[in-house]
Amino acid sequence: MAMESKEIKEIYAGKVAEKFDLLMPLSFTRFKKLAFEDSSLKNGDRVLVFCCGTGLDFPHILKKVGPDGKIVGVDFSSEMLNQAKAKGKAKREKWRNIELIEADITKFQGELDQIFDVGVCTLGMSIIPEYISAYQNLLSYVKKQGDIIISDMQLAPGWLACLNPFTLFLAKKYGGTYEGHKNSMELYSLMQKGLTDVRKKEFFFKSYFYCTGKIR
Ligand SMILES: C[S@@+](CC[C@H](N)C(=O)[O-])C[C@H]1O[C@@H](n2cnc3c(N)ncnc32)[C@H](O)[C@@H]1O
Repeated sequence: MAMESKEIKEIYAGKVAEKFDLLMPLSFTRFKKLAFEDSSLKNGDRVLVFCCGTGLDFPHILKKVGPDGKIVGVDFSSEMLNQAKAKGKAKREKWRNIELIEADITKFQGELDQIFDVGVCTLGMSIIPEYISAYQNLLSYVKKQGDIIISDMQLAPGWLACLNPFTLFLAKKYGGTYEGHKNSMELYSLMQKGLTDVRKKEFFFKSYFYCTGKIR
């Protein structure tokens, strides 16, 4: 059964926030890096990051957008955002163009008076029961021809499905569920239907993917 939003918030209010960066598997960090390297992110881009958590995506994005770019990160866990803020303090100069907002992305509609070049969500949509609203909200903030970058867990297909219990076990303490991983397939088909230039790459025995596309 998919978790309720309240339960997910509780997960990210506890020890998970404190240890999140340490527990992130190195392979996932590499897949994330690849997604951003492979994207059309460029110098000066304004990037909206949903479910930004502790800001693990920020260094990869900053590398591409440079000091003239901007990142707005949104997350509903103040504990995860506090971790990001602590890093921001340590990297003062490099992170000066990052703004953090505490909000529920499923209800985050018309809150910002700016439009972005790129919208990002990594390891977020699959744990959100109302992921369709979250996805639509993300799209609503990105300009025409702007890019969407989503990466997440999914159910592995075919014979690789025998590994799904293992990946689900790993994802469980972060709010991962069978339904959530299945929703990733639906999200991909939404991206295929609604965006142009959609590309998908799969990793980790096809249980992790990133997908990019452009707003029509
Ligand atoms: C697995 S973490 C991923 C964090 C980051 N994207 C990364 O890859 O390191 C999932 C994040 O999604 C956030 N989240 C889950 N549901 C959310 C919602 N409805 N609105 C805002 N943030 C949400 C959690 O607080 C958590 O920080």
